[in-house]
Formats: sequence, structure tokens, C-alpha cells
Amino acid sequence: MFQLTIMANPNQEIIYKKLFINNEFVDAQSGKTFVTLNPQTGKPLAEVAEADKADVDLAVKAAKKAFERGSAWRDMDASQRGRLINKLADLIEQHKSALANLEVLDNGKPFAEADFDIQCAIDTFRYYAGWCDKIHGNTIPADGGSLAITSKEPIGVVGQIIPWNYPTLMVSWKWAPALAAGCTIVLKPAEQTPLSALYAAALTKQAGFPSGVINVVPGFGETAGHALVIHPDVRKVAFTGSTEIGRLIAENAAKSNLKKVSLELGGKSPLVVMQDVDLDEAVEIAHNAVFANHGQCCCAGTRTFVQETIYDAFVAKSVELTRKRKVGNPFADDTLQGPQIDAESQQKILKYIELGNKQGAKLECGGNKWGNEGFFVEPTIFSNVTDNMTIAQEEIFGPVQSVIKFKTLDEVIERANKTSYGLAAGILTKNIDWALTFARAVEAGSVWINCYDAVTPQTPFGGYKQSGHGRELGEDGLEPYTETKTILVKLPTKN
Ligand code: NAI
Ligand code: MG
Repeated sequence: MFQLTIMANPNQEIIYKKLFINNEFVDAQSGKTFVTLNPQTGKPLAEVAEADKADVDLAVKAAKKAFERGSAWRDMDASQRGRLINKLADLIEQHKSALANLEVLDNGKPFAEADFDIQCAIDTFRYYAGWCDKIHGNTIPADGGSLAITSKEPIGVVGQIIPWNYPTLMVSWKWAPALAAGCTIVLKPAEQTPLSALYAAALTKQAGFPSGVINVVPGFGETAGHALVIHPDVRKVAFTGSTEIGRLIAENAAKSNLKKVSLELGGKSPLVVMQDVDLDEAVEIAHNAVFANHGQCCCAGTRTFVQETIYDAFVAKSVELTRKRKVGNPFADDTLQGPQIDAESQQKILKYIELGNKQGAKLECGGNKWGNEGFFVEPTIFSNVTDNMTIAQEEIFGPVQSVIKFKTLDEVIERANKTSYGLAAGILTKNIDWALTFARAVEAGSVWINCYDAVTPQTPFGGYKQSGHGRELGEDGLEPYTETKTILVKLPTKN
């Protein structure tokens, strides 16, 4: 079988640094650029064209034109849309090394994780490619003897604003369902990680998407992002990021043209470890639930609830495992943890660690910045954490595990739900009654039993409470990109 060789290359050439509008790479109208950093060194990596309102206006205009009646995209068979999305997935696969290298340089995640993310992006495109010609409505026995049918229509021009923690994966989560539904897109990548979205944009042109269907406008949130959110021709905004900005976007979208909004926001997800587990296995699952992607994961299982009978042993083994976690150069084969995304994020994490210490949690390992350059933080564990401590309530978005003691299942369900968030939850146990009781009672969009972070293209993902609105992935993930139209035909009374 043909095997692609994936090659780590810290000297990956950065080709695409301009805005992508109407299938062309162009400078910003203002001529402005901004610098994206390499978080491993803290030094500039590339200068990228900086979009603001004027460029967003052009991108939306292109997307609107691509969506007009009679356009190539609107007239395209749904099955052909599917072929284009599959072609894009094939091209991403062929360019996997380049994309993974850009991801490591721009974001700092270890190469193996970047490689995995890009595979997940490919899988997501292929999953939604299959949906294109299977999105359909119903025939309904309406009152009055009429014939009623519904169709699912694309919502129109969509604005998509994504964060920096999974740059290429977030592109796929946003583009794939929107394209499957037949929408046209203006995407703003995070200012910290614009490079892989621009590379992916180049591949959409190569795949044969008509001009204007996909546009990418790197820039800042308050300028380019805001312009997209309030644009009168944008029918919907999809956002992943902080709860604070999610709230602001919902407000601004409502104030402008009441555009629809889907939000995938933060979390403070509980992972419950019952006393009947295999301890080594549980320690490892809980460890990865927190430390994957350096803790920069919206669904990270940051509140590790451990039943009191195994608590001390669990903490001891977790510390042993975490001390071994290799931090350093993300291009090195054995590195499990690279730098955090930027200095601000590093400082925020160190502040939370300081608060943990001040409020009486016990620092078991880590607790400091790591190395002399870049934005690294040591993998950190706190034990004796109580529910009211700030580190047990707020999203740290860094490599910090809080191990919390509990006695009974009922008690832990109540405590797990005592948060404004509700993105994900997990339970580790061999007892099916305990597992399913927890799964039914916990207020979270995803519940994982005897695993964690099991996100697949086929299964919906999104939050309860302040973790967001709407779902991504799976069939549910199409919903935010479609409108339901009812067509009712009056039939002659005699038949
Ligand atoms: P953020 O929410 O500010 O940024 C996410 C995206 O929103 C970026 O593309 C940004 O440019 C854009 N944005 C910012 N302000 C905007 C505005 N007024 N209008 C439109 N778009 C805007 O998140 P940030 O500052 O990168 O991270 C702060 C914290 O947010 C993190 O420490 C973490 O707690 C949380 N976060 C959660 C993520 C998740 O996956 N749910 C991802 C990234 C951050
Ligand atoms: Mg960067």
C-alpha cells in the first residue's frame, strides 16, 4: 500500500502569508501586517497580512457573490460538493508534513500531536463529504389535505472565528459542515496561529472550489473578528474560544442583524475516578485528560475527582507519571509537552498556580515556568484541592491538574455539576450502574466512560450551560448551517 512519509522539519518554508479572498492571496487594504511568534523561542516566525473591516467587507462580498442564485456553487450537484470536499481531504493528506510542521512552528505542539490533529481534520472532511447528498427534508401529512415538504437549505454566508489551540482541526470542524450544507465562508484564524489556515486555503483552490466559497482573513479579534460578527450580509457566526468573547459575540450578533450564532466555549470538566478502577490505567487516562496539548484544550478533564479510599495512592502515582513527562523542543521525538501559546497565557497559568498555593492546595510537582526561552510551564499537580478554590472553578488552560477527594457517587455528581460550565465529563469505573447513573446526571455535552477526549467526526460535540450553544460534528453539526424551508402545495379537493 502507498504510504505517505511524514517528516518533521523545523525549517519548513512559510509560503502563504497573505489574506485569501476570492481564491487569490492578497495584501491587506491598509498594507498592514502582524507578526506571528514561534512559542518555543518567543521569537518572530512570520509577518502576515492583517485584515480589518475593509478586507472583511471584500471577503464577505466575495462569499455573497459565490452564494448568489446561478453561481457555480449554488448550481453544483450536492454529490459534486462531496467530491470537492474529498479532494480537499486528499490534498491535506498529501501535504500533511508541511501542515504539521507549520502547526508545530506556529503553535508549539509536539510534532506527533500535530500529525494526529491533521489526521483528525482529514477524517472530519471525509465524514462531511459523505453528507452532502444526504441532507434532506421530509414529506409531511399536513392538515387540510395539502402536500407539505421540507427542504434543508444552506444558511448563506457564514463567519467563522477560531482559536489557536487546534488550528487545522478547528478549520476542518468549521469548514466541513458549512461546505457540506452548501454555505460560503469567511474564516478568521487566531492571531497567534494564522499559518495553517492559509495553507489549507491554498489547497481549497487546488481542489477546485469556486472563487469566493472559502475566504480567510487573518487579523485580530477586535478588528477583523468584530467586523465579521457585525456584518449585515453574514447570516451566521460560528465561534470557538473563551466564554467572555463568546458572550460578546452573541450580544454583537444580536445587535447587528440578529444573525445566528453557535458557540463552543470553555470548560472545567470533571473526571471521576471510582475506587474499583485499575489504578495505573486510571492514573494514565486522568493524566492525559489534563496534560494533552499542554492543557490547552476546551474539554480538558481538569477537575480530577478521586474516591477517598484510593486518593493517596492515586496522587502518588500521578506525581510519578507527571515527573516523567518530557518537556522541551516540540520537534524532538520524545517530547510530550511543548510551550504554551504565548507569554500572556504562560503568565495567566503561573498566576493560577500562585493562587492554588495561596488558597491552601498542596503543590505536589511542577509549579514554575520551564527553561530560559519560550513560553513553557512545568507539568503541575495540586492535591487537597477543594471546590471553592479558584483553581477548581476557573479555566486555567495550562498543564495543571487539580486532584479532588470525594466519598460517594451522589456527592460527586452534585459537586461535578457545581460549575457554570458543561462541556465534557468522564467517569472511570468497572461498575455499569455507577457509570450510567453518572452519565445521566452530569450536565455536560459529552460524557466519556472509561476513556477521555474521545472526540470523533461522527459524534456531536458541544456544551451545556456557559460552555456554549449548538453542536459541532456528527449529523447535529449540520444543523447550525441549514435553514428548514416548508413548501406547502394546495391540492384539488377531489382526487
Ligand atoms: P479569545 O476568545 O479571545 O480568542 C478566540 C478567537 O476569538 C480569536 O480568533 C480571536 O481573535 C477572536 N476574538 C477575540 N475578540 C474578539 C471580538 N471582540 N470579536 C470577534 N472575535 C474576537 O481567546 P484567547 O484570548 O486566545 O484565550 C483566552 C482564554 O480563552 C484561554 O486562556 C482559554 O481559557 C480560553 N480559550 C478557550 C478555547 C476553547 O477551545 N474553547 C480556545 C482558546 C481559548
Ligand atoms: Mg504563532
